[in-house]
Amino acid sequence: MGSTQPEFKNPATSTLLELVKARRTYYGLKAESPISDDAIESIVSNAVLHVPSSFNTQTSRVVLLLKEEHQKVWDIAIAAMEGLVAAGTLPKETFETQTKPKLNAFRAGYGTVLFFVDFDSLASIKEKFAIYADKFDPFALESNAMSQFLVWTALESEGFGANLQHYSPLIDEQIQKQWNLPASWKLDAQLVFGVPTSEPGEKAFAPLEDRFKVFGK
Ligand SMILES: Cc1cc2nc3c(=O)[nH]c(=O)nc-3n(C[C@H](O)[C@H](O)[C@H](O)COP(=O)(O)O)c2cc1C
Repeated sequence: MGSTQPEFKNPATSTLLELVKARRTYYGLKAESPISDDAIESIVSNAVLHVPSSFNTQTSRVVLLLKEEHQKVWDIAIAAMEGLVAAGTLPKETFETQTKPKLNAFRAGYGTVLFFVDFDSLASIKEKFAIYADKFDPFALESNAMSQFLVWTALESEGFGANLQHYSPLIDEQIQKQWNLPASWKLDAQLVFGVPTSEPGEKAFAPLEDRFKVFGK
């Protein structure tokens, strides 16, 4: 994508953009890691510390789950989906042939990062800046998404593959109970990662000129 590579002053800028381009959705994952658990933890904790938030409200909450702890997320999701089958909301056939294999593919990975937003922590700032009150919740989600993108990109830079999932609110209650998390932490996304066992699918790009304009160059 894009035109020919311009000269950057800092070679790290090219590296950063290469990593951004290389980030893809990987669904085939295995329970292995190319790096230490400490290195994974460092990626996630740096994202929590350094990704910006509106008015520096620091609304993101993150849980890193590895190995057996990671598998529990997907056991919870499978059990929740089985509940839908029992309730007649999800056809058993669809569950057996599509839903369960997909959830088991996530379970086969090495880890899951759970991304939450603590909307309750915004109560006082919403009062203080009443004019922005309705903006703070979306800002918090935007900040959370920045963390998701950073962790996704950094994990793939280290040799993992990852995919981003959204099983909320189906799994929220069990997730909160399982790890005794504060009730104010609202689950947004689950980033599943592991060593890739297959390549990402083809990706089409809508024309850049329909999506990007430059003036004053
Ligand atoms: C905000 C957002 C939500 C997404 N939600 C899901 C999801 O729930 N399940 C899923 O399998 N992929 C999800 N994806 C992955 C996208 O489908 C994927 O990023 C997109 O098709 C581009 O492919 P790429 O990641 O390989 O570049 C999501 C991506 C984003 C940015």
